[in-house]
Amino acid sequence: MNHYPFLTELEPSLFSEKNAYAVFGHPIGHSKSPLIHEQFALQMQHDMKYLRIQPALDDFAQMLTQFFVLGGQGASITIPFKLEAYELCQQLSARARLAGAVNTVWQKDGVLCGDNTDGAGLVADLISQGVAIHEADVLILGAGGASRGILEPLLTQKPKRIWIANRTPQKAYELVSLFQPLAKEFGIELAASSTAQLETEATDTFSLVINASAAGLDDQSPLSALAADRIFVAGGFAYDLVYGKTTVFMEQALQRGCRISDGLGMLVEQAAIAFSQWRGVNIQSLNTRAVIAQLRSA
Ligand code: ATR
Repeated sequence: MNHYPFLTELEPSLFSEKNAYAVFGHPIGHSKSPLIHEQFALQMQHDMKYLRIQPALDDFAQMLTQFFVLGGQGASITIPFKLEAYELCQQLSARARLAGAVNTVWQKDGVLCGDNTDGAGLVADLISQGVAIHEADVLILGAGGASRGILEPLLTQKPKRIWIANRTPQKAYELVSLFQPLAKEFGIELAASSTAQLETEATDTFSLVINASAAGLDDQSPLSALAADRIFVAGGFAYDLVYGKTTVFMEQALQRGCRISDGLGMLVEQAAIAFSQWRGVNIQSLNTRAVIAQLRSA
């Protein structure tokens, strides 16, 4: 597969072989998606192109439409277009509807279909790292789009409890309201608080703590040292959705005896689900762990 520079406009000749896929985002120059899909294509011996497309912030809908008109086969959607993609899709998977956001699109019989594979990617990565989600006590930090996107797939694994803590507690309560019917159906305790309350409230410890807040991007942790002392347990697992660095949150967990992971595995696993959807291949035939190892060594 060739490496293409990122595109701000679409060149029809790229689509002549009807094998073009792409990731849409802004900015998009840093995206690892082409490397990941290139590896899957090599593994399956599929001939495909994977482009990086950076529409102007107000031009996403027009470029996505043009992409499919020209013959594009499927696209990944990343920041900041996931909500707009959700609005544009005429058919949504149940998990995309619950996530309120779309990260994978394709066309079927002229209808734009959308899925959200982020949460399922997280679950797949946790399982391959030997983390027991079933019956786990789970704490999710943050209550934005990333948290919303992982809740349905996590609930489906039937943990014992999911606690959502956010700097602004109101947003965490809203997520609890949205997902309470599903939690009730599975008999899972779903609760929320402010992150500050973790310093005082008797929440007990959590066997799995997921940082879905954007704090790591500013080299901060959403947790104070006191909260970290109270919620981490030696032998527990701490997962940060951010990838490519050891965040302050991960360091806090490591110091308290937890195993840690960044979100690189989630990125690769969510891409594998998208690839299998677009190309009609069995997900089991994709070697995601080899791709993760390759990205780590690059
Ligand atoms: P995303 O789509 O990545 O989830 P978002 O919807 O903007 O982005 O949500 C960002 C989340 O990170 C929110 O939960 C936000 O907390 P608030 O709701 O209080 O704003 C959280 N967040 C961002 N920076 C943070 C920080 N420095 N400390 C703690 N939480 C932070």
